[in-house]
Amino acid sequence: AEVPTLFTPIKLRDMTLQNRFIVSPMCTYSADDGHLTDWHLVHLGAFALRGAALTIVEATAVTPNGRISPEDSGLWQDSQIAPLKRIVDFVHSQGQKIGIQLAHAGRKASTLGPWHVTKGRHEVAGPDVGGWPDNLWAPSAIAWDEGYPTPHAMTVAQIQGLVQSFADAARRALQAGVDTIEIHAAHGYLLTEFLSPLTNQRTDAYGGSSFENRTRVLLDVVGAVRAAIPQGMPLLVRISASEWMAHDGGRPSWDLAESKRLALLLADAGVDLLDVSSGGNNPRQRIEVHPYYQADMAGEIRELLRRESKDMKIGAVGMISTAEMARSIVQEGGKLASCEQDGKIEVESGDGTKTRADLVLVARQFLREPEFVLKTAALLGVQVSGPVQYHRAPITKRRLR
Ligand code: FNR
Repeated sequence: AEVPTLFTPIKLRDMTLQNRFIVSPMCTYSADDGHLTDWHLVHLGAFALRGAALTIVEATAVTPNGRISPEDSGLWQDSQIAPLKRIVDFVHSQGQKIGIQLAHAGRKASTLGPWHVTKGRHEVAGPDVGGWPDNLWAPSAIAWDEGYPTPHAMTVAQIQGLVQSFADAARRALQAGVDTIEIHAAHGYLLTEFLSPLTNQRTDAYGGSSFENRTRVLLDVVGAVRAAIPQGMPLLVRISASEWMAHDGGRPSWDLAESKRLALLLADAGVDLLDVSSGGNNPRQRIEVHPYYQADMAGEIRELLRRESKDMKIGAVGMISTAEMARSIVQEGGKLASCEQDGKIEVESGDGTKTRADLVLVARQFLREPEFVLKTAALLGVQVSGPVQYHRAPITKRRLR
């Protein structure tokens, strides 16, 4: 039987992924002054033992004020390399791959981790709990919402410093041995804030109505990180393909059309995978949710890239929670319709599939069902390469030697 695309390898520069599953980055509010802890070793290590081709470490701040909460991961100083390296070394010891997401939370920084929240989401972390509400960065001095601190409109020197901080954090990630880096330009954090005309009302070369100006910081960051990492290492970028604000008085907002334009620029800038998420830039966003709501946008961007002969790969994320959904999103040349027989999904050849992405990123389903990849493989009748430890001699024999 034909192997479903979901379980065929894919190459991004020199990195070959054994299948199309990526563990999506997930903040866990468990770092100690930006240093990863035992929690992260076990949490991320466990994913690496469960068949996904790549695990991406949670949003990791490139400057201290870029953390979403005081307990976020960071790579702004050298002491943060060793705890990351410990995790990377463990994952590599099992023959698996690991990347890291580099981020700056912009005006959404300095909030409380979920278990401290009493009033609602995104509660402000004040100085009493290690927060920095008076030192938030954004393109323009526009608060997230009423009752939230007003960020500082970044100076040009600060913007240039930010670009340098991304490159420096990338160098630290390399020292820790990561296989790839993802730049977080989604979910309303600093780089999204620059992309959107609603949050970026600058009048200089970094903003305003001009698409070129609003995309400049992201492209500068991509250029700086690309230059800091080896030629053979793939670079990933996550964007919000829409901020879902078209309903709001007809003011120009970041939407799929602008994301398509950006995708072409990112492909030319040496980005290897565009990870297509959405939303998070405005508390009044109105998301049209259905299971494929983000995957469909990924598919539209992918189609454009193919038409323009760009070989940047596309990742789909969001609500991917069944084997069939994961399969159908990446399947090339197979029928969309599945037929379940004796608990197995039969994949037939032929066309009729609308391939939406080259890979899937999954977050919550891996929390609900850590065996999601292994179970999907079993359903589709294919094998995945498990952790090295499972292939070694039984532990008793090793002890006797
Ligand atoms: C997330 N998400 C997220 N996204 C991101 O780009 N960086 C991050 O650090 C986090 N942190 C995070 C923590 C937790 C606990 C969850 C559940 C989610 C978003 C996540 O990567 C993913 O895009 C969404 O959850 C949608 O995918 P699922 O969960 O439907 O598979």
